[in-house]
Amino acid sequence: MIILGIETSCDETSIALLEAEKEKAAFFIQPIRSVVSSQIKIHAPYGGVVPTLAAREHVKNLDYLFNQVLPFEQKLKFKKIIKQLDLIAVTEGPGLIPALLVGINFAKALAWGLKKPLIGINHLEAHLLSFLLGEEGQKQEFKIKDLNKMFPAIGLIVSGGHTLLLLVKKIGDYQIIGETRDDAAGECFDKTSRILGLGYPGGPAIAQEAELYQSNPLNNEINNLPSLPRPMINSKDFDFSFSGLKTAVLYTYQKLSKSQKRKYKSYLAYEIENAITDVLVEKTIKAARTYQAKSIILGGGVTANKKLREKFSQITKVNKLNLYVPLLKYTTDNAMMVAGAAFFNFINNPHNDYSWNNLIGNANLIL
Ligand code: KG4
Ligand code: ZN
Repeated sequence: MIILGIETSCDETSIALLEAEKEKAAFFIQPIRSVVSSQIKIHAPYGGVVPTLAAREHVKNLDYLFNQVLPFEQKLKFKKIIKQLDLIAVTEGPGLIPALLVGINFAKALAWGLKKPLIGINHLEAHLLSFLLGEEGQKQEFKIKDLNKMFPAIGLIVSGGHTLLLLVKKIGDYQIIGETRDDAAGECFDKTSRILGLGYPGGPAIAQEAELYQSNPLNNEINNLPSLPRPMINSKDFDFSFSGLKTAVLYTYQKLSKSQKRKYKSYLAYEIENAITDVLVEKTIKAARTYQAKSIILGGGVTANKKLREKFSQITKVNKLNLYVPLLKYTTDNAMMVAGAAFFNFINNPHNDYSWNNLIGNANLIL
């Protein structure tokens, strides 16, 4: 089947086409093409996403991206694909309601006009399943017996809005076992980056600054600077808290003189990155042990972080766990992951009513 995915929950507008098939003993998934328009430059001066600005940009972008989803010279093929299109999928939530509604209304109009079924997708499930997506044009086969062997798994979804630990018994069966009590991991990167004057989005900015320290450490000179806390790293539950880390960065940085700020900025970035990634890795591994998981699945914008990937790669080897991570381009928000999640939702619930007028957005949709 061919699925058109649409994503507008936050500050990326994205449309994608995916082909997927279920046969008796295997799934086949082939991303066809994805286009993403990022609004980073528009929101950067505000240090975070402004919902009404995001919605306005989605309105401007969607029609254009829809026409771009296949290159111009392939327009004929595009028309053919539209004819063959089996399903339209759109992010239903969670997200910023003005932004979500733009994508949802666009999807409804398409579904109505093209007389196609429409499915609403949970953005968090889309992040969780993004590890199943390969390069565009590449058809991947997943044998059902192999997929079954990876469960139970622990899923870690870390983005600008969410930090969630899930027990994944199978695709479509999720239990939240831990979440953040305050700021999300990505939000902590964004807010501490703002404190250090490193810009938005904070994750890549902090990572880049941390590399400066790593390539030229200050050695003993940092002795008078405290290391940052790893909040709740030893707590008995699987929850997270990142607001204390943000406050610690604020107080530490405020106390420094102008020249010290310049000198120690890269050390603080290095510490922030390590503090966040240490907590994420420790809690996820603890959950894997507790639930006797066979695998760890990562998803969400923060999983683009190189250090986080390296730490998970090492620790899963030591603990003999499988590790599933998305391709870098599918870590941050994109419509291909929406189409991917739609495939599994659709084949698991083929008899649901997928008519366009059933869908409303839900800013607080839970898994
Ligand atoms: O999944 P996503 O695109 O949007 C949400 O659903 O929130 O995630 C965006 C978040 C931002 O907080 C951004 O700072 C973070 O992902 N991020 C990173 C990296 N790239 C993006 N965090 C750490 N390291 C990165 N390389
Ligand atoms: Zn996201």
